[in-house]
Amino acid sequence: MPRTQNAAEQKARDLIREMTLKEKFQILASHGYHRFYSTKPNQRLGIPSFKVTDGPLGVAYHSTRKKATRFPATIALAATWNRDLAREVGAAMGQEVRASGRHMLLAPGINIARTPLNGRTFEYFSEDPCLTREIAAPVVVGIQSEGVGACIKHYAANNQETDRGSSSSEIDERTLHETYLRAFEGVVKEADPWAVMSAYNKVNGVYCSGHEYLIREVLMKKWGFQGFVMTDWFATRPMKSTAQCINAGLSLEMPWPKIYKTSALEKAFEAGEFSEESLHDLIIRYLKVMYMTGAFADGPQSTPQAVSTIHNQAVARRVAEEGMVLLKNEGGLLPLDKKDLVCIFGTHLKKKFGRLLYGGSSAVVPPQEVTPLEGMLRHKNVMPPPQDRLRCVQGAQACVVFVGLDHGRGKDSETRDRKRLELPDKQVKLIKEVALLGRPVVVVLIAGSPIAMSEWIDDVQAVLMAWYPGMEGGHAIADALFGTTNPSGKLPITFPARIEDSPAHSSGSPRTYPGDEEKRVWYDEGIYVGYRWFDKQGIEPLFPFGFGLSYTEFRLDYIQLEREILNSPEDTTVLEVAIENIGERPGAEVLQLYLENTNSRVERPPRELIGFEKVHLEPGERKAARITLKAGDLAFYDAESHNWIIEDRPHDVIIGNSSRCEGDSSKILYRGRR
Ligand code: BGC
Repeated sequence: MPRTQNAAEQKARDLIREMTLKEKFQILASHGYHRFYSTKPNQRLGIPSFKVTDGPLGVAYHSTRKKATRFPATIALAATWNRDLAREVGAAMGQEVRASGRHMLLAPGINIARTPLNGRTFEYFSEDPCLTREIAAPVVVGIQSEGVGACIKHYAANNQETDRGSSSSEIDERTLHETYLRAFEGVVKEADPWAVMSAYNKVNGVYCSGHEYLIREVLMKKWGFQGFVMTDWFATRPMKSTAQCINAGLSLEMPWPKIYKTSALEKAFEAGEFSEESLHDLIIRYLKVMYMTGAFADGPQSTPQAVSTIHNQAVARRVAEEGMVLLKNEGGLLPLDKKDLVCIFGTHLKKKFGRLLYGGSSAVVPPQEVTPLEGMLRHKNVMPPPQDRLRCVQGAQACVVFVGLDHGRGKDSETRDRKRLELPDKQVKLIKEVALLGRPVVVVLIAGSPIAMSEWIDDVQAVLMAWYPGMEGGHAIADALFGTTNPSGKLPITFPARIEDSPAHSSGSPRTYPGDEEKRVWYDEGIYVGYRWFDKQGIEPLFPFGFGLSYTEFRLDYIQLEREILNSPEDTTVLEVAIENIGERPGAEVLQLYLENTNSRVERPPRELIGFEKVHLEPGERKAARITLKAGDLAFYDAESHNWIIEDRPHDVIIGNSSRCEGDSSKILYRGRR
């Protein structure tokens, strides 16, 4: 444990000695306090109010009543595949949390995308545990570098919004660990978040806030989590047993007591349903974090800097730029020429997203938000939507159509899932009408989850996935379209051609989504989630995981392995790859390292991402990129021994620029120490 944590823990231990039993009970919930995002202080002991704010797109307005930098959606950050940028985002958010007088950010959300219809896909990173861990961990480190806590959420297997408060995710042990807990495990071990939020749903019949196996056994004992666990808001509403939550390891019930009412705690304690020792453990964990955030020292204080700074807005813009994924670019239509006429259309030209609770608890209201229209009109040859479409497009080099989703009902929004994978009919009609005008068409998609495009993709020449690009989005989109920047995002999630192709929906039965008559959701596809499913079933996705085009071209030259034999799970090796930008523009490529499971003795996905590195290159530049591989990432979870196992065998690894890349593989031998 780091020294600061040790000192904070000592203070917490000293303080608990001063507390009466009643005060100990009262601290476990924001006792009768009317505020939603701060706990009740204890005047007698000088315990301050602990103040949190929602994320994960920045500091949420409903928590602070302050405007803040609206960052692009989490999925856009994942699409950057840029760890350094993720750390910068975390630090920028942390600074704003501190400046708005809060102690903790309820972020990042690290649930795995099981279904592309999950209403909160935009708030999460990916369908892949490795990418999720690698981008989420630096976000946590960045947030906490500012002296405020990160609360990773929603633990665990909270993969849909439909019936989220009552459904049970039915998952076998291997799938639970290998798919749904793996990123949580990695982030806990690598980034040491100060809190974890328990999810609304049940896992295998037990509510997450009272799940002893998930919290006490796995999170705390197995992974060594040092922070505290708090509930999602009102997650305990359907629960009955107070002792169950204490014994499971839950420190804080939010936003006010139900299961942790003082009277309920007294009753359970008197009946001997939990020990004072377990009570102390929960309180110490929580008080320790309060000390670490400076809550006791009257800090952090609100400062005028709470309003988003120029620096933080620039960070948001970089995420928007780097996260954009160029999905199609026939004949090199993009980038557009600044000297020639461009006509713009679409439902999303003037759309703003930063409104109170728009999309749910992640909503950040920025001081200003640059729409695509505003971004595009900074260029003099751009013509806004005309009355007479035909007249406008004469002589235009291209028509750009801005469409996508928003945070309305049944789209990308908390509390309910999307209804379908396609764009609204009105938008499809518009794309088709514009395509009939006879000029090349670019579609810019503004959305937080995969979109089916079969109805219209052959009618257009280029598609740019801009996600929800945040407060600087309009600038970032225009810069990408005109080639001031070069898109370097790669999909963090598979884009299926049809919803039936994706794992939770392929059975067509409510059993796998959204749940049977008893609201059990059976994860029958097991470990085959995302591209693992498409690869195993041999289904061609519309666009595969890891895919994204560039305005330039790259050539991989040689691959060299630093060490070919690894001996322990902590061992690492480095793959050195020579990469050259053979095109005419500066650009960045993401070198992705996949494990190819061709000779395993157990069932394993055909491919698994186990490392990556993003490399920026000027035209003609050549670099040796270094991708670090951890032996632990070769492992599968063995349900018999309840542990990770790395097979004693040569492992084939392949480097490429998407999960469907082709090429030569190299061999890494794992020989566990005997
Ligand atoms: C969401 C959490 C959020 C909490 C507090 C819940 O509805 O699931 O992500 O942090 O509310 O606003």
